[in-house]
Amino acid sequence: MLDSLRSVIQFRELELDPVERRLARVASVADLRRIAKRRLPGGVFDYIDGGAEDEITLGRNLGAFADIELRPRVLRDVGEIDTTTDLFGRSHSFPLVMAPTGFGRIADPQGELAVARAAQRAGVPYTLSTMGTRSIEEVAEVSSGEKWMQVYVWRDRGMVKELIDRAHEAGNTTIVITVDTAVLGRRERDVRRGFTLPPKIGPETLIDGALHPSWTLDFLRSEPITFSNVTSADADGSGTAVNLAQYINSQFDPGLSWADIEWFRSIWPGEVVLKGVQGVDDAVIAAENGVDGIALSNHGGRQLDNAPTPIELVGPVAEAVGDRMAIICDGGVRRGSDIFKALALGADAVMIGRAYLYALGAGGERGVDWVLDHLVSGLRQTMVLSGCTTIADIDADLVSPPR
Ligand code: FNR
Ligand code: LAC
Repeated sequence: MLDSLRSVIQFRELELDPVERRLARVASVADLRRIAKRRLPGGVFDYIDGGAEDEITLGRNLGAFADIELRPRVLRDVGEIDTTTDLFGRSHSFPLVMAPTGFGRIADPQGELAVARAAQRAGVPYTLSTMGTRSIEEVAEVSSGEKWMQVYVWRDRGMVKELIDRAHEAGNTTIVITVDTAVLGRRERDVRRGFTLPPKIGPETLIDGALHPSWTLDFLRSEPITFSNVTSADADGSGTAVNLAQYINSQFDPGLSWADIEWFRSIWPGEVVLKGVQGVDDAVIAAENGVDGIALSNHGGRQLDNAPTPIELVGPVAEAVGDRMAIICDGGVRRGSDIFKALALGADAVMIGRAYLYALGAGGERGVDWVLDHLVSGLRQTMVLSGCTTIADIDADLVSPPR
């Protein structure tokens, strides 16, 4: 009797910490993606994983990194490696920023809080999305690390101002204005599924949910998922499921222009970063407008399909404006060697989106710790094997130019 009880207890103990067991078998971001795909309902995984239209840009974001060859140097005494880096005069443990992503809680009940805590532990800035499912204040409560706030510009500028004031109050250093979403990209995986946010529990999702019981239990057990940073009733802070394209296309202002950037600079005391710049000409205008940084980004291939890949823009943009502002490269970063390539071509830092979302879906907060450790280890490994000891050593001679 006691023996059989013990075996049951032992069995349950094993079941109680599946995360460690799962992560012990992970070696790469591709592994995390595979596990996330298995654990998350199909609609949730496709929302995270998918891109616009034919997903050409999504694929090219990854392919463009693969096309860059490393040109290592040897016999350079790589006994001591230092990955610390400066961004806007502040030091971080390595040149990476957590990109803003909406709806963190569809991947894990802790959502954005898990990601912000992991970012602080890793010593890198965390960017909260306007479409986050945890509020600015909740994030500030759990993280004293560097916090950036991503801004989508509603038609109602009063709401925007309020969001920004809250971000300032909560100690955010930097705003990231996303400029590539005048309307939402056409994500055909979501169109096909009629995907809503938060996910609706209908007959199809019930079947999907039954196939993903642990996600479904978490989802049903936790408080309703809402757009935690949306305050106005007419923009829907109620938790009602919405079709994202309809929501964004009705609430965000397609009239946004360079004149508004001036307004943001006048009301925000910290740094202003424009996210979604996709060419040299606009990078030059951004520099002329006095912004502090740009994120070269095609929104992870989720907005304009066939848009250029950020890693291919880094070189020309760095040449044009690299001495005037910070250049962040975002889209397709899956390994430390990708960070190395972006820096070699002239970026000051990279952002990651899906890499940490797959991790969140695969292993929650510990998954995010794992992926950040994986990326900094990969960067170190690439530095050692390329003959660099500091971030400043990483230069264009160490890579082939992108094709
Ligand atoms: C995003 N991204 C994004 N960007 C933004 O400015 N505001 C947002 O709310 C979101 N939401 C969002 C959700 C999901 C599920 C994804 C995958 C992406 C884009 C994000 O900040 C970043 O540009 C890309 O994720 C970078 O590409 P990788 O790293 O995912 O390849
Ligand atoms: C997305 C929006 C939320 O990429 O930015 O899904």
